[in-house]
Amino acid sequence: MMFELKNVTRRFGKKLAVDSVTLDIPQGQMVGIIGRSGAGKSTLLRMINRLQEPSSGTIHFGGVEVSGLRGQALRNWQRDCAMIFQQFNLVPRLDVLTNVMLGRLNHRSTVLSLLNVFTREERIQAIAALERLGIEQTALQAAGTLSGGQQQRVAIARALMQNPKMVLADEPIASLDPLNAKIVMDALRDINEREGITVVTNLHTLDTARNYCERIVGMAGGRVVFDGKPSELTTEAVKDIYGTDKDGAGIDETMTSTAINIAPEGAENESAGNQPLALAGL
Ligand SMILES: Nc1ncnc2c1ncn2[C@@H]1O[C@H](COP(=O)(O)OP(=O)(O)OP(=O)(O)O)[C@@H](O)[C@H]1O
Ligand SMILES: [Mg+2]
Repeated sequence: MMFELKNVTRRFGKKLAVDSVTLDIPQGQMVGIIGRSGAGKSTLLRMINRLQEPSSGTIHFGGVEVSGLRGQALRNWQRDCAMIFQQFNLVPRLDVLTNVMLGRLNHRSTVLSLLNVFTREERIQAIAALERLGIEQTALQAAGTLSGGQQQRVAIARALMQNPKMVLADEPIASLDPLNAKIVMDALRDINEREGITVVTNLHTLDTARNYCERIVGMAGGRVVFDGKPSELTTEAVKDIYGTDKDGAGIDETMTSTAINIAPEGAENESAGNQPLALAGL
């Protein structure tokens, strides 16, 4: 199923955060979105998931206009494209298993959701998801007591519980050390390769995008300035994406370094609008 963005634009007042972005993404691709802070990467992902509405333009998935969905159809879409955040967005005081099962909430009636009752099948599925990510031993621990890398794996397990067609990850490794960053990126690659789930991920470093993504989309000033294979990402293209600082500092060398745990400046709080948690009244 093709996923299509056409002239998608988002303004905040006079600011053009995303400027007429057109992209076709076939099912099963692993796409990395790169660009400087403020390039519009998060806004683009949030519009795909409908956490934010486009000012203009259209988003289609399998021929259905995503940007027009309302009510249950909108909730179904938000279930189909699971979102992963830099700050994990788990419920810290709840145990890991419950956090993972919250991924099922969009599959069930509101009453059952509010009662927070899970079936035996859901528990089995949740434990299987945790095993797959190698953290089943943490199942009964409060999520807030886990390391960052473990918490992000819980978030991926929760996303898998949604049986998503697409995973949208907004700088999933920006808060992690290099080893945990690798574990999390390997997990995203694994679900992309084994289940054919489309993965669209914002990344802060070029090397991670190069190593993991078959396609790289470079954004600058809200526009797509590069769209191609890692091998096509020339020095010239990198300059188009990252540009030069007004003070002439040029491309920050951290962007091309092997370190993959560079936290973005002013990392935003992504807690708003998380659908399963909002449904659970948490
Ligand atoms: N809710 C908002 N209200 C006003 N302006 C916003 C809002 N969200 C984003 N912007 C602006 O839109 C532009 C794009 O922001 P966005 O967060 O999408 O960038 P980004 O590429 O994700 O940056 P970063 O790498 O720092 O996460 C920025 O100039 C930002 O200040
Ligand atoms: Mg961002």
